[in-house]
Amino acid sequence: MTIERQACLERDRNDPLGFTRARFALPPDVIYLDGNSLGALPASVRPRLDDAVSREWGRDLIGSWNGAGWYTAPGRVGAKLAPLLGARPTEVTIADSISVNLFKLLVAAARMRPGRREILAEAGNFPSDNHIVESAARMLGLRARFVPAEEIAGAVTPDTAVATLSHVNYRSAAMQDMAGVTDAIHAAGALAVWDLAHSSGAVLLDLDGSGADFAVGCGYKYLNGGPGAPSHVFVAERHLAGFDQPLQGWFGHADPFRFEDGFAKAAGIRAALCSTPPVLSLLALEAALDAFDGVAMSDLAAKGRALCDLFVALADERLGPLGVALASPRDGAVRGSHVSLRHPEAFGIVRALIRRGIVGDFRAPDAMRFGFAPLYIRFVDVFDAVAAIEETIGREAWRDLAPTDAGAVT
Ligand SMILES: Cc1ncc(COP(=O)(O)O)c(C=O)c1O
Repeated sequence: MTIERQACLERDRNDPLGFTRARFALPPDVIYLDGNSLGALPASVRPRLDDAVSREWGRDLIGSWNGAGWYTAPGRVGAKLAPLLGARPTEVTIADSISVNLFKLLVAAARMRPGRREILAEAGNFPSDNHIVESAARMLGLRARFVPAEEIAGAVTPDTAVATLSHVNYRSAAMQDMAGVTDAIHAAGALAVWDLAHSSGAVLLDLDGSGADFAVGCGYKYLNGGPGAPSHVFVAERHLAGFDQPLQGWFGHADPFRFEDGFAKAAGIRAALCSTPPVLSLLALEAALDAFDGVAMSDLAAKGRALCDLFVALADERLGPLGVALASPRDGAVRGSHVSLRHPEAFGIVRALIRRGIVGDFRAPDAMRFGFAPLYIRFVDVFDAVAAIEETIGREAWRDLAPTDAGAVT
């Protein structure tokens, strides 16, 4: 059955979450399908940063650490984010980057399972995760073993201290069953560290209900915190007392302003912090989370899935005959909020699309990734993007690009 543009406009008119798009400052001539890499700019961020810079920093200077709540911002923003993750406010804080937090959590988890000799990790995960796994294992004298995400549950053994994987794979968008995999990891006596980079703010998460031990996530993708926005860390309440992460710095100290020589760990999730946070980025993230006000994550995830389903259906109908293959799960129940397509000219296609304002990205060797951030993408955007891809491939538009025109491929 042919899908019509008119039907997509109709879906947008009836979309109960249609109101959230107005919370973003989007360029009118762009269809932005890369929110899974860098989220769009929420309208709430600019005035918040203006105030933070001119008043809090410019006028009140160092007094703002207490007066404007900078010091408590990591926990405050973590608590604001927690409901989007299915976590308690006391289990989440904002700190550092995903890679740094992953290192902290892997070491902390391994320290809770002394005598076990292995870190089990996802082959094909985002490379930085596995670089961190290798280094953490080397430092701890453990073995690092890598198996595909779908095999983690069956590969964990009584020698595994900790197993780590992405909830949604950065390339294929394949989504793992967090509760089921965590149960299997626990059955072998190991601990689970989840990477939520492509999940937080896009898909339905229930960290507490799933029994997750630890998790890290991204501030600059679906949470729209801006380039380099700090990451978030989740430590399940039952582990907070015994949580011993390796980067023990003064922000994780029970009383940093006593300036004692010895380290005394802070109570609660603050122990996940190491040092002075990037305050402006943290405040930008805090303001960005306003875009989720009044939005149920179940509704948001359902819309993301519907957008992806529409994209897959249109790609089957209009791009399949042009040699494009689906590189993501067809079943929306096991897919995150982006879709990858494969074509031998993927790099050129993505460059040509960016030239005409359809922004996706390329992942070597032949994948085009299109993210459908449900807060600001419309059904008609999906339709128009597929029409543009069809036209781009049909007339081999990449041949018109200068070799130096690498576009903004990220
Ligand atoms: C799944 C995944 N893990 C880790 C990272 C690395 O994040 P960071 O640069 O914050 O360490 C990314 C970045 O895109 C990612 O997609």
